[in-house]
Amino acid sequence: MSFNQDFLWGGATAANQHEGGYQEGGRGLSTFDAVTGGGYKVPRLVTYKNVDGSIGKVPVDSTMTGQVPVHTTGTILEDTFYPSHNATDFYHHYKEDIALMGEMGFKCFRMSISWSRICPDGRYQVNEEGLAFYDAVFDELHKYGIEPVVTINHFDMPMYLADHYDGWSSRKLIDFFLFYARTIFTRYKDKVKYWMTFNEINVLSGWCQIGVHDNSPQNLYQAHHHIFVASARAIQLGHEINPENKIGMMVAYTPSYPMTCKPEDVLEALQFNRQKTFYMDVQCKGYYPEYKQKEFEREHIVIKMEDKDLETIQAGTVDFIGFSYYMSTVSSTDPDVERTEGNQFLGCKNPYLTTSDWGWTVDPLGLRIALNQIYDQYHLPMFVVENGLGAPDQMEEDGSVHDSYREEYLRNHIKAMKDAVDLDGVDLMGYTPWGCIDIVSAGTGEMKKRYGFVYVERYDDGTGDFSRRKKDSFYWYKHVIETNGEEI
Ligand code: BG6
Repeated sequence: MSFNQDFLWGGATAANQHEGGYQEGGRGLSTFDAVTGGGYKVPRLVTYKNVDGSIGKVPVDSTMTGQVPVHTTGTILEDTFYPSHNATDFYHHYKEDIALMGEMGFKCFRMSISWSRICPDGRYQVNEEGLAFYDAVFDELHKYGIEPVVTINHFDMPMYLADHYDGWSSRKLIDFFLFYARTIFTRYKDKVKYWMTFNEINVLSGWCQIGVHDNSPQNLYQAHHHIFVASARAIQLGHEINPENKIGMMVAYTPSYPMTCKPEDVLEALQFNRQKTFYMDVQCKGYYPEYKQKEFEREHIVIKMEDKDLETIQAGTVDFIGFSYYMSTVSSTDPDVERTEGNQFLGCKNPYLTTSDWGWTVDPLGLRIALNQIYDQYHLPMFVVENGLGAPDQMEEDGSVHDSYREEYLRNHIKAMKDAVDLDGVDLMGYTPWGCIDIVSAGTGEMKKRYGFVYVERYDDGTGDFSRRKKDSFYWYKHVIETNGEEI
């Protein structure tokens, strides 16, 4: 048998894409509340207010510096549709969603806590109703024998911290985050054992994800230094509060292959891959690697550190490595090579592989390669906490959804994980396919791009009553879990 008997089969979502209830239960505003829907190649926009009261909109992934003054505040406009306000309404459907997970036989559910539901403006005030909501969610999960796996921060933050502190540019964020982390570690001490500090730490940027108005390398690396220190201190704190806690990092892992064996292409791929390994080196090995220090020198990037920061980073390394894997990419120094979309970046097109409807390369073998690359370097338990195919599922008149393409995608990736375990001996803890219940896409803000085993009747024009339907893949995945991945 490939996978351990206690292998954590499950699924994953995040608060800003699944939860909704944005003004309910005492929740404060979060950055993603001011982000509109978008579409394929149509950017999502942040709506903001200038100091003089005038309104502006700016694409999520652009740097806001130079386009809007720093002293702007995210704002919600009445005539605008914001998908995260309701998302797919886990807030009101959590019992139904968890029952469906129970029916599939989930052993775990990866979800995130909305920071502004716990600390409405991000500072030192706690919203009891928010804490009680997650108590109810965790209790419901345990009723079905499902272990919560909690991402403490998944791509959003209290809007107040972005607007008034310039987000993670400010060192003060470390204390605010630790207050939030202490609150939830303490409250859920007996309910949650698996944690991850920051989702996809290696891609964090911009106002929505980390509250910064300036995406220059100098400012981003400074913000990331604060995030590293906050994460390391949270890990120490989480272990103090409950020594049983397993606390991991989470990285977006997209391995890059050289386009040719030309050494320049090989070096290009190596450098692309270091954009991930840098974050793993800091969080798993506990130091800033030499290649990054040299880059900082070359680029005149100076990170302001306090005396004990490096010791803190060294002392707060992770227990496991969580990562998302959707695709591989290709690196080339030739500017004329065709490019294709990817998970938050543009890479070269791989002539040997197909792509999804959103241009993401489909490469199951790349997952085996990723598992080996990571394990070779860090020798820590690994957890594939996101993987899946975004596709425009169609619901038939009788409510059925025939998504055999999703089964095929997941089957091939599970096969790759099995090979990595059986043939290569990697240490794999679990697998949580992304968006197990349909959610709003993070990149495009669409409902059209669906990942789930469960279809949610919610559409991009804001219609839909949020009813849930089991797709064909629901029954397939249930069987996969029942046979512990032996029959896929
Ligand atoms: C990961 C994120 O980058 O990819 C998720 O952690 C996101 O939040 C997922 O939803 C898929 O991306 P998208 O753009 O298809 O939603």
